Amino acid sequence: MNALYAEMLVQVEREIQLLDFPAKPANLYDPVRYIMSLGGKRVRPILTLLGCELYGTPYKNAINQAMAVELFHNFTLMHDDVMDSAATRRNVATVHKKWSSSIALLSGDGMMVLAYQKLFLAPENKVKMLGAVFSKTAIEVCEGQQLDMDYAEQNILELDKYLEMIRLKTAVLLTGSLQIGAIMAGVKQTETEALKDFAESVGLAFQLKDDCLDAFGSETFGKSIGGDIKEGKRTWLTLKCFELASESVRKELTALYQNPDLAFRVDAVKSLYVDLGIEKLAEQEVAVYSQRALDALDSIEGNPAAKETLSWLVNQLVGRTN
Ligand code: IPE
Ligand code: IPE
Ligand code: MG
Ligand code: MG
Ligand code: MG
Repeated sequence: MNALYAEMLVQVEREIQLLDFPAKPANLYDPVRYIMSLGGKRVRPILTLLGCELYGTPYKNAINQAMAVELFHNFTLMHDDVMDSAATRRNVATVHKKWSSSIALLSGDGMMVLAYQKLFLAPENKVKMLGAVFSKTAIEVCEGQQLDMDYAEQNILELDKYLEMIRLKTAVLLTGSLQIGAIMAGVKQTETEALKDFAESVGLAFQLKDDCLDAFGSETFGKSIGGDIKEGKRTWLTLKCFELASESVRKELTALYQNPDLAFRVDAVKSLYVDLGIEKLAEQEVAVYSQRALDALDSIEGNPAAKETLSWLVNQLVGRTN
């Protein structure tokens, strides 16, 4: 593992352990403790730390903001699992399954507030910029999540619309995480635009990879395989499948998405993906966006060690199995 990344990961995990949520009401805070303690890759808080290092400031200065983005991310996962009827995350029961949907909603709301509290543990002259970037990011994630639901079951969906949907639901948070770290290093909000090309491309690659793993991943993925197919989600794989299929296969695919036998549907859709070589095409698409990210990274002026770690991270995310 990259040395700087390894060091940051230790710091992030330590800081998460130090988060001190009240004991009561247990049904509000236990789910917060639960989801935060289940591991996860911690990509976003590390991006915040790297955003700070990139502009020459020791990453420890951005540790509270790193906690803010990880709290926010876990809140979105808690609500996302309700919306996606997902039973498993990080190889254990999701909050709404272990407790209830109402509890997942309120604990998630609480995490959003806790995230703002951490975000604003910053010098006075940075609070306004932090708030602006964080809030813009958060509302865009909501927009992306709504589009994700709106597009479910929609057979014809242009690639551009799909890409805009994943940009909003996933990529903007990676961008925001990095920008927040940069702001902690004293960079002006307008100057953080340079990071956008890089982080958005990483984000698109990241969600495309997540779509691949959702269909073809193994147990290491930690979520139930085929969840997107069961929910009728429009992923890059579905779009490509509709595009490449013959008229008769397209009809078959449409019928499959109406089939209530979900286990059958998952197997049948996956075998159509296999017939049409969709997984390989999707992986090639992941490679296109990650290369775009690496090219954008080249043109960013910043601390070489942070840049090297960012480049290492991109390659890790492309090859990930979780
Ligand atoms: C899952 O994010 C949600 C997506 C945007 C695909 P991660 O894959 O980063 O989840 P954890 O935090 O590592 O579990
Ligand atoms: C996740 O999209 C986006 C957000 C949580 C905001 P997914 O629904 O694909 O994420 P997973 O696969 O459940 O982690
Ligand atoms: Mg989901
Ligand atoms: Mg979702
Ligand atoms: Mg997914």
